[in-house]
Amino acid sequence: MTRGNGEVLNTMRLEFLSLPENVGLARVAVAALAAQADITLNEMEEIKVAVSEAVANAIIHGYGGEPRGWVRVTVNRLQDGLEIIVEDDGKGIPDIAQAMQPAYSTDPERMGLGFAFMQSFMDELEVTSEEGRGTRVVMRKKLNPSVTTA
Ligand SMILES: Nc1ncnc2c1ncn2[C@@H]1O[C@H](COP(=O)(O)OP(=O)(O)OP(=O)(O)O)[C@@H](O)[C@H]1O
Ligand SMILES: [Mg+2]
Repeated sequence: MTRGNGEVLNTMRLEFLSLPENVGLARVAVAALAAQADITLNEMEEIKVAVSEAVANAIIHGYGGEPRGWVRVTVNRLQDGLEIIVEDDGKGIPDIAQAMQPAYSTDPERMGLGFAFMQSFMDELEVTSEEGRGTRVVMRKKLNPSVTTA
């Protein structure tokens, strides 16, 4: 199996209930897979923040903070980087461009910086969403090309 940005060396799929404590679960699981790559501490921190923000959004916004839906996290470890997909079947985003603007939030208590972090810490960010159906966030980060498949 190959992709535009390199061969897939490993894939992980994780599905969990929309509980706030599962942000940490997803972060640790993705970090464990990322650790298989040739990765710096700084890159690892950036990946953890991006995953936490995307998963927190799925739980908090997608499902209104209630444990009533599934969040799916798929990680493809590619020869030259990592592709992370976070999906929910929640309420969806009516205006993606607006939602992605730094400091925009539908919750006055929040900073509205989640997407800005994902954007700055990852090389690519794609968001698709359908109202009432859910949201899909695809993030890609280039890493040092792997020389082994171990
Ligand atoms: N998975 C999602 N489902 C529904 N709405 C979402 C989802 N992710 C983001 N949004 C919407 O996009 C807005 C911006 O998201 P972003 O993560 O940038 O900021 P925030 O979550 O509001 O604040 P912060 O991330 O700083 O706590 C959110 O306020 C929310 O309205
Ligand atoms: Mg957020």
